[in-house]
Amino acid sequence: MTDIRKSFGSLEVIHGIDLRIAEGSFVVFVGPSGCGKSTLLRMIAGLEEVTDGEIEIKGRNVTDLDPSDRGIAMVFQSYALYPHMSVRENLAFGLKMARTETAEIEARVKAASAILKIDHLLDRRPGQLSGGQRQRVAIGRAIVRKPDVFLFDEPLSNLDAELRVSMRIEIARLHRELGNTMIYVTHDQTEAMTLADRIVVLRDGRVEQEGTPREVYENPANIFVAGFIGSPRMNLLGGTWLGNGRVRVAGSDMSVPIAGEDLQIGDKVSFGARPEHLFVTDGGAGSIPAKVDFAEYLGGTQYLYCQLADGQPLIAEYRSGPAVNAGSTIMLSIDDNKRRLFAADGRRLT
Ligand SMILES: Nc1ncnc2c1ncn2[C@@H]1O[C@H](COP(=O)(O)OP(=O)(O)O)[C@@H](O)[C@H]1O
Ligand SMILES: [Mg+2]
Repeated sequence: MTDIRKSFGSLEVIHGIDLRIAEGSFVVFVGPSGCGKSTLLRMIAGLEEVTDGEIEIKGRNVTDLDPSDRGIAMVFQSYALYPHMSVRENLAFGLKMARTETAEIEARVKAASAILKIDHLLDRRPGQLSGGQRQRVAIGRAIVRKPDVFLFDEPLSNLDAELRVSMRIEIARLHRELGNTMIYVTHDQTEAMTLADRIVVLRDGRVEQEGTPREVYENPANIFVAGFIGSPRMNLLGGTWLGNGRVRVAGSDMSVPIAGEDLQIGDKVSFGARPEHLFVTDGGAGSIPAKVDFAEYLGGTQYLYCQLADGQPLIAEYRSGPAVNAGSTIMLSIDDNKRRLFAADGRRLT
């Protein structure tokens, strides 16, 4: 898509988005609520008019085509099944409307329900299905249409946590089996990380970064992406630039691997460190004292919710070693290569 813009009345909510999506890839649009994910997806689907710009699918300009002529199928969070029809009828409905031959409809319904393991539910109505089963039917309705591109808008948001994880794995499997292009919208960065070949991080109608999950995690373009991708999030600590590759954070001096030519001594900066890159040490140069407010024990790992000397909160992941008790003060050191620094305007400096 090229320079896509969208306004509702006089308010522009999508501010010129350029994206190339490789055929057969799984792309996830992720970002906080209200950033424009659904609007962007709905424009691709043709459910929302494009204010400016062009959308191409498989080399064909579809910007002004009807949804039904675009070779897409969309799956919504709200399933949108017909309650008075059986699963079989729900799956067949779109094809019937398109005057597909009966034998062909039967074959496609059979194939889709086998892929989704809902063959035994074909005679039930949506009201007799669990949430996960209903979502499978909604996906099945997309599959029978044999679209070039699948569009998903937060399809798992109505499911409970456990089911979300298993459906996420199902959708990944589906992509592997079908090989179609899939564009998937979510506000859940874990879903984005686990499903995507490529992630598009959106904020306020703009693309903040586009890349593989590993790229956006390890090399976030800016402080927004750094703070959004990752669970728990990257610790972002207010600090002051001291010059010579040194930053003062909560009364401690830290070194960072940059010269900082474009910084002035005394500039406010943000120092970033992910919870898994913090280590409990005996103290010594470059370590920082932290008071443990709360220790969350998860079995394989522990999250230590701490406060630094100046009250800034910080989360450290702690995998092994003697138990750490709430109320104690620990010394934390930070992996040299994983220290991030962000300028006041959010740019990543290291
Ligand atoms: N039909 C509409 N009329 C007016 N504003 C809208 C409409 N649909 C969406 N918006 C606005 O556009 C912005 C993006 O919305 P949306 O795409 O739904 O965000 P997301 O899916 O990322 O949560 C929001 O500010 C929302 O209020
Ligand atoms: Mg939305």
